[in-house]
Amino acid sequence: MKEDHLKKLTPFKLLKPIAYLLLLLLSFTFGYLSSPSSPTTPSFSPPSLQLPQLVNLPTQLDHFRLTSHCATPLPSHLIRQTILDRLFKSTSPFVNFPPPYATPLLRRSRVKGWGSNGAVFQNLIQKVQPKTIIEIGTFLGASAIHMAGLTRQLGLNDTQILCLDDFRGWPGFRDRFRDIGLLNGDVLLLYQFMQNVVSVNATETVLPIPFSTGSGLDWLCEMGVFGDLIEVDAGHDFNSAWSDIIRAYRILRPGGVIFGHDYFTAADDHGVRRAVTLFAQVYGLKIKLDGQHWVIESS
Ligand SMILES: C[S@@+](CC[C@H](N)C(=O)[O-])C[C@H]1O[C@@H](n2cnc3c(N)ncnc32)[C@H](O)[C@@H]1O
Repeated sequence: MKEDHLKKLTPFKLLKPIAYLLLLLLSFTFGYLSSPSSPTTPSFSPPSLQLPQLVNLPTQLDHFRLTSHCATPLPSHLIRQTILDRLFKSTSPFVNFPPPYATPLLRRSRVKGWGSNGAVFQNLIQKVQPKTIIEIGTFLGASAIHMAGLTRQLGLNDTQILCLDDFRGWPGFRDRFRDIGLLNGDVLLLYQFMQNVVSVNATETVLPIPFSTGSGLDWLCEMGVFGDLIEVDAGHDFNSAWSDIIRAYRILRPGGVIFGHDYFTAADDHGVRRAVTLFAQVYGLKIKLDGQHWVIESS
Protein backbone atom coordinates (compact mmCIF):
# COMPACT_ATOMS: atom_id res chain seq x y z
CA MET A 1 0.00 0.00 0.00
CA LYS A 2 2.79 2.36 1.00
CA GLU A 3 4.80 1.47 -2.11
CA ASP A 4 1.80 2.18 -4.41
CA HIS A 5 1.42 5.56 -2.84
CA LEU A 6 5.06 6.32 -3.36
CA LYS A 7 4.97 5.27 -7.03
CA LYS A 8 2.10 7.73 -7.66
CA LEU A 9 3.82 10.64 -5.92
CA THR A 10 7.38 10.34 -7.39
CA PRO A 11 6.82 11.90 -10.87
CA PHE A 12 5.22 14.98 -9.27
CA LYS A 13 8.04 15.34 -6.78
CA LEU A 14 10.68 15.11 -9.56
CA LEU A 15 8.97 17.65 -11.80
CA LYS A 16 10.30 20.68 -9.88
CA PRO A 17 14.05 19.83 -9.94
CA ILE A 18 13.83 18.81 -13.60
CA ALA A 19 12.23 22.16 -14.44
CA TYR A 20 15.05 24.00 -12.59
CA LEU A 21 17.66 21.97 -14.42
CA LEU A 22 16.08 22.71 -17.80
CA LEU A 23 15.92 26.41 -16.97
CA LEU A 24 19.59 26.39 -16.01
CA LEU A 25 20.57 24.60 -19.21
CA LEU A 26 18.52 26.99 -21.35
CA SER A 27 20.02 30.13 -19.80
CA PHE A 28 23.56 28.71 -20.15
CA THR A 29 22.96 27.85 -23.84
CA PHE A 30 21.43 31.26 -24.52
CA GLY A 31 24.32 33.04 -22.79
CA TYR A 32 26.92 31.03 -24.69
CA LEU A 33 25.30 31.64 -28.07
CA SER A 34 24.88 35.37 -27.57
CA SER A 35 28.48 36.02 -26.34
CA PRO A 36 31.25 37.19 -28.85
CA SER A 37 33.23 34.24 -30.21
CA SER A 38 36.56 35.43 -28.75
CA PRO A 39 36.02 38.08 -26.11
CA THR A 40 39.73 38.76 -25.39
CA THR A 41 41.22 38.80 -28.93
CA PRO A 42 39.74 41.43 -31.23
CA SER A 43 39.83 40.10 -34.76
CA PHE A 44 40.29 42.03 -38.01
CA SER A 45 39.62 40.82 -41.50
CA PRO A 46 41.13 42.91 -44.28
CA PRO A 47 38.48 44.22 -46.64
CA SER A 48 38.29 41.96 -49.65
CA LEU A 49 39.13 43.58 -52.98
CA GLN A 50 36.13 44.42 -55.14
CA LEU A 51 36.21 43.92 -58.91
CA PRO A 52 36.89 47.61 -59.81
CA GLN A 53 39.85 47.66 -57.41
CA LEU A 54 41.26 44.49 -58.95
CA VAL A 55 40.95 46.02 -62.41
CA ASN A 56 42.96 49.03 -61.17
CA LEU A 57 45.66 46.94 -59.51
CA PRO A 58 48.45 47.95 -61.95
CA THR A 59 48.03 51.60 -60.96
CA GLN A 60 48.61 50.64 -57.31
CA LEU A 61 52.23 50.36 -58.41
CA ASP A 62 52.26 54.16 -58.44
CA HIS A 63 52.89 53.94 -54.70
CA PHE A 64 56.25 52.39 -55.52
CA ARG A 65 57.21 54.81 -58.26
CA LEU A 66 59.04 58.07 -57.73
CA THR A 67 57.22 61.02 -59.15
CA SER A 68 59.33 63.91 -57.81
CA HIS A 69 61.70 65.62 -60.21
CA CYS A 70 65.44 66.19 -59.88
CA ALA A 71 67.20 69.56 -60.10
CA THR A 72 68.28 70.84 -63.50
CA PRO A 73 71.24 68.71 -64.64
CA LEU A 74 74.64 70.18 -63.74
CA PRO A 75 77.06 70.43 -66.65
CA SER A 76 79.40 67.44 -66.51
CA HIS A 77 82.53 69.54 -66.02
CA LEU A 78 81.14 70.99 -62.77
CA ILE A 79 80.22 67.69 -61.15
CA ARG A 80 83.53 66.72 -59.51
CA GLN A 81 84.11 70.14 -57.94
CA THR A 82 80.49 70.39 -56.79
CA ILE A 83 80.75 67.06 -54.99
CA LEU A 84 84.10 68.01 -53.46
CA ASP A 85 82.60 71.29 -52.25
CA ARG A 86 79.44 69.79 -50.84
CA LEU A 87 80.82 66.57 -49.34
CA PHE A 88 84.52 67.05 -48.68
CA LYS A 89 85.04 70.72 -47.74
CA SER A 90 86.45 71.37 -51.22
CA THR A 91 89.39 68.99 -50.69
CA SER A 92 89.86 65.66 -52.44
CA PRO A 93 89.55 62.78 -49.95
CA PHE A 94 92.74 61.41 -51.54
CA VAL A 95 94.85 64.33 -50.26
CA ASN A 96 97.21 63.02 -47.53
CA PHE A 97 95.78 59.56 -47.92
CA PRO A 98 96.29 57.17 -46.19
CA PRO A 99 96.46 58.68 -42.72
CA PRO A 100 99.37 57.28 -40.64
CA TYR A 101 97.10 55.47 -38.16
CA ALA A 102 95.45 53.46 -40.99
CA THR A 103 98.55 52.72 -43.09
CA PRO A 104 99.57 49.53 -41.22
CA LEU A 105 96.03 48.17 -41.61
CA LEU A 106 95.88 48.54 -45.40
CA ARG A 107 97.30 46.34 -48.14
CA ARG A 108 98.95 48.04 -51.08
CA SER A 109 96.23 46.59 -53.29
CA ARG A 110 93.40 44.24 -52.35
CA VAL A 111 90.84 43.95 -55.13
CA LYS A 112 88.01 41.45 -55.45
CA GLY A 113 84.85 41.72 -57.52
CA TRP A 114 82.22 39.63 -59.23
CA GLY A 115 81.83 39.86 -63.01
CA SER A 116 83.72 43.15 -62.66
CA ASN A 117 85.74 42.76 -65.87
CA GLY A 118 82.87 41.57 -68.09
CA ALA A 119 82.79 42.66 -71.73
CA VAL A 120 79.69 44.75 -70.96
CA PHE A 121 81.85 47.51 -69.45
CA GLN A 122 83.92 47.99 -72.58
CA ASN A 123 80.87 47.62 -74.84
CA LEU A 124 78.93 50.33 -73.01
CA ILE A 125 81.79 52.77 -72.41
CA GLN A 126 82.73 52.57 -76.08
CA LYS A 127 79.11 53.10 -77.12
CA VAL A 128 78.07 55.83 -74.64
CA GLN A 129 81.42 57.68 -74.33
CA PRO A 130 80.28 58.77 -70.85
CA LYS A 131 81.46 61.92 -69.11
CA THR A 132 79.87 60.83 -65.83
CA ILE A 133 79.64 57.22 -64.68
CA ILE A 134 77.73 56.49 -61.48
CA GLU A 135 78.42 53.16 -59.84
CA ILE A 136 75.92 52.03 -57.19
CA GLY A 137 77.71 49.36 -55.14
CA THR A 138 81.50 49.50 -55.37
CA PHE A 139 82.99 47.31 -52.61
CA LEU A 140 86.78 47.16 -53.15
CA GLY A 141 86.49 48.94 -56.48
CA ALA A 142 87.10 46.08 -58.94
CA SER A 143 84.56 47.29 -61.50
CA ALA A 144 85.27 51.00 -60.87
CA ILE A 145 88.99 50.44 -61.43
CA HIS A 146 88.25 48.41 -64.57
CA MET A 147 86.10 51.27 -65.90
CA ALA A 148 88.79 53.82 -65.03
CA GLY A 149 91.28 51.77 -67.09
CA LEU A 150 88.85 51.57 -70.01
CA THR A 151 88.17 55.33 -70.08
CA ARG A 152 91.92 55.92 -70.05
CA GLN A 153 92.47 53.47 -72.92
CA LEU A 154 89.67 55.12 -74.92
CA GLY A 155 91.10 58.59 -74.33
CA LEU A 156 88.07 59.73 -72.31
CA ASN A 157 90.24 61.84 -70.04
CA ASP A 158 87.45 63.97 -68.54
CA THR A 159 85.30 61.07 -67.40
CA GLN A 160 84.44 60.96 -63.70
CA ILE A 161 83.42 57.75 -61.94
CA LEU A 162 81.30 58.38 -58.84
CA CYS A 163 81.21 55.40 -56.49
CA LEU A 164 78.15 55.33 -54.25
CA ASP A 165 78.51 52.77 -51.46
CA ASP A 166 78.19 52.93 -47.69
CA PHE A 167 81.39 50.83 -47.64
CA ARG A 168 79.92 48.64 -44.89
CA GLY A 169 79.72 45.53 -47.12
CA TRP A 170 77.27 43.12 -45.55
CA PRO A 171 77.39 41.24 -42.23
CA GLY A 172 78.76 37.97 -43.68
CA PHE A 173 81.56 39.56 -45.68
CA ARG A 174 83.79 40.01 -42.63
CA ASP A 175 84.15 36.22 -42.34
CA ARG A 176 85.22 35.98 -45.98
CA PHE A 177 87.48 39.02 -46.02
CA ARG A 178 89.24 38.70 -42.67
CA ASP A 179 92.28 40.51 -44.05
CA ILE A 180 90.38 43.80 -44.46
CA GLY A 181 91.41 45.97 -41.50
CA LEU A 182 89.14 46.55 -38.55
CA LEU A 183 89.57 49.61 -36.34
CA ASN A 184 87.45 49.80 -33.20
CA GLY A 185 84.75 47.74 -34.86
CA ASP A 186 84.82 49.85 -38.01
CA VAL A 187 85.76 47.83 -41.08
CA LEU A 188 88.20 49.75 -43.31
CA LEU A 189 86.44 49.04 -46.59
CA LEU A 190 86.35 52.69 -47.69
CA TYR A 191 90.06 53.09 -46.96
CA GLN A 192 91.02 49.84 -48.69
CA PHE A 193 88.95 50.87 -51.73
CA MET A 194 90.68 54.27 -51.76
CA GLN A 195 94.07 52.57 -51.41
CA ASN A 196 93.19 50.38 -54.43
CA VAL A 197 92.36 53.53 -56.42
CA VAL A 198 95.67 55.10 -55.36
CA SER A 199 97.54 51.96 -56.46
CA VAL A 200 96.28 52.35 -60.06
CA ASN A 201 96.78 56.10 -60.08
CA ALA A 202 93.11 56.87 -60.67
CA THR A 203 92.50 59.42 -57.89
CA GLU A 204 91.59 62.16 -60.39
CA THR A 205 88.97 59.96 -62.06
CA VAL A 206 87.29 58.10 -59.21
CA LEU A 207 85.45 59.65 -56.27
CA PRO A 208 83.76 57.81 -53.40
CA ILE A 209 80.29 58.90 -52.26
CA PRO A 210 80.12 57.09 -48.92
CA PHE A 211 76.40 56.92 -48.20
CA SER A 212 73.52 54.47 -48.36
CA THR A 213 72.20 54.10 -51.88
CA GLY A 214 68.72 55.49 -51.10
CA SER A 215 69.83 58.74 -49.50
CA GLY A 216 72.85 59.07 -51.80
CA LEU A 217 70.77 58.75 -54.97
CA ASP A 218 68.18 61.20 -53.67
CA TRP A 219 70.97 63.64 -52.86
CA LEU A 220 72.48 63.34 -56.35
CA CYS A 221 68.99 63.98 -57.75
CA GLU A 222 68.55 67.11 -55.59
CA MET A 223 72.00 68.31 -56.70
CA GLY A 224 71.29 67.73 -60.39
CA VAL A 225 74.12 65.18 -60.70
CA PHE A 226 73.14 62.98 -63.64
CA GLY A 227 75.02 60.01 -65.11
CA ASP A 228 75.51 59.04 -68.74
CA LEU A 229 76.22 55.48 -67.65
CA ILE A 230 74.89 54.05 -64.38
CA GLU A 231 75.82 50.64 -63.00
CA VAL A 232 73.58 49.13 -60.30
CA ASP A 233 75.27 46.47 -58.16
CA ALA A 234 74.43 47.07 -54.47
CA GLY A 235 71.72 45.21 -52.51
CA HIS A 236 70.48 42.12 -54.38
CA ASP A 237 67.12 41.59 -52.66
CA PHE A 238 64.05 42.72 -54.59
CA ASN A 239 63.28 45.81 -52.50
CA SER A 240 66.87 47.12 -52.59
CA ALA A 241 67.27 46.46 -56.30
CA TRP A 242 63.90 48.05 -57.13
CA SER A 243 64.59 51.14 -55.02
CA ASP A 244 68.10 51.57 -56.45
CA ILE A 245 66.97 51.12 -60.05
CA ILE A 246 64.05 53.56 -59.92
CA ARG A 247 66.15 56.14 -58.08
CA ALA A 248 69.05 55.69 -60.48
CA TYR A 249 66.81 55.95 -63.54
CA ARG A 250 65.72 59.42 -62.39
CA ILE A 251 69.30 60.66 -62.71
CA LEU A 252 70.10 59.00 -66.04
CA ARG A 253 70.76 61.55 -68.76
CA PRO A 254 68.58 61.23 -71.86
CA GLY A 255 70.41 58.90 -74.21
CA GLY A 256 72.23 57.25 -71.30
CA VAL A 257 72.34 53.61 -70.28
CA ILE A 258 71.61 51.91 -66.97
CA PHE A 259 72.88 48.39 -66.38
CA GLY A 260 73.60 45.96 -63.61
CA HIS A 261 75.04 42.66 -62.52
CA ASP A 262 73.40 39.40 -61.47
CA TYR A 263 70.67 38.94 -64.02
CA PHE A 264 72.01 35.50 -64.80
CA THR A 265 73.92 34.32 -61.74
CA ALA A 266 73.08 32.30 -58.65
CA ALA A 267 72.11 35.60 -57.00
CA ASP A 268 69.54 36.48 -59.67
CA ASP A 269 66.64 34.90 -57.81
CA HIS A 270 67.30 36.99 -54.73
CA GLY A 271 65.32 39.67 -56.47
CA VAL A 272 67.47 41.45 -59.04
CA ARG A 273 65.86 39.79 -62.04
CA ARG A 274 62.32 40.32 -60.70
CA ALA A 275 63.06 43.99 -59.95
CA VAL A 276 64.58 44.63 -63.39
CA THR A 277 61.75 42.84 -65.19
CA LEU A 278 59.06 44.73 -63.28
CA PHE A 279 60.89 48.04 -63.77
CA ALA A 280 61.09 47.51 -67.54
CA GLN A 281 57.39 46.58 -67.68
CA VAL A 282 56.21 49.55 -65.61
CA TYR A 283 58.36 52.07 -67.50
CA GLY A 284 57.83 50.47 -70.90
CA LEU A 285 61.54 49.82 -71.52
CA LYS A 286 63.38 46.97 -73.22
CA ILE A 287 65.88 44.76 -71.36
CA LYS A 288 68.97 43.68 -73.27
CA LEU A 289 71.41 41.12 -71.94
CA ASP A 290 75.19 41.20 -72.03
CA GLY A 291 76.82 38.24 -70.28
CA GLN A 292 75.63 38.21 -66.67
CA HIS A 293 74.45 41.81 -66.95
CA TRP A 294 71.12 43.43 -67.78
CA VAL A 295 71.21 46.61 -69.88
CA ILE A 296 68.46 49.22 -70.37
CA GLU A 297 68.79 52.24 -72.62
CA SER A 298 66.91 55.38 -71.63
CA SER A 299 63.81 56.16 -73.62
C1 LIG B 1 78.44 43.17 -54.93
S1 LIG B 1 79.26 44.46 -54.10
C2 LIG B 1 79.73 45.53 -55.42
C3 LIG B 1 80.80 44.93 -56.29
C4 LIG B 1 81.38 45.87 -57.32
N1 LIG B 1 80.38 46.46 -58.19
C5 LIG B 1 82.37 45.11 -58.16
O1 LIG B 1 81.96 44.48 -59.15
O2 LIG B 1 83.53 45.12 -57.84
C6 LIG B 1 77.93 45.28 -53.32
C7 LIG B 1 78.29 46.55 -52.58
O3 LIG B 1 77.08 47.24 -52.33
C8 LIG B 1 77.15 47.88 -51.10
N2 LIG B 1 75.78 48.08 -50.61
C9 LIG B 1 74.80 47.17 -50.45
N3 LIG B 1 73.67 47.73 -50.03
C10 LIG B 1 73.94 49.06 -49.91
C11 LIG B 1 73.16 50.18 -49.50
N4 LIG B 1 71.87 50.07 -49.16
N5 LIG B 1 73.74 51.37 -49.48
C12 LIG B 1 75.05 51.52 -49.84
N6 LIG B 1 75.83 50.50 -50.25
C13 LIG B 1 75.27 49.27 -50.28
C14 LIG B 1 77.98 46.99 -50.20
O4 LIG B 1 78.63 47.75 -49.21
C15 LIG B 1 78.95 46.37 -51.21
O5 LIG B 1 80.16 47.04 -51.19
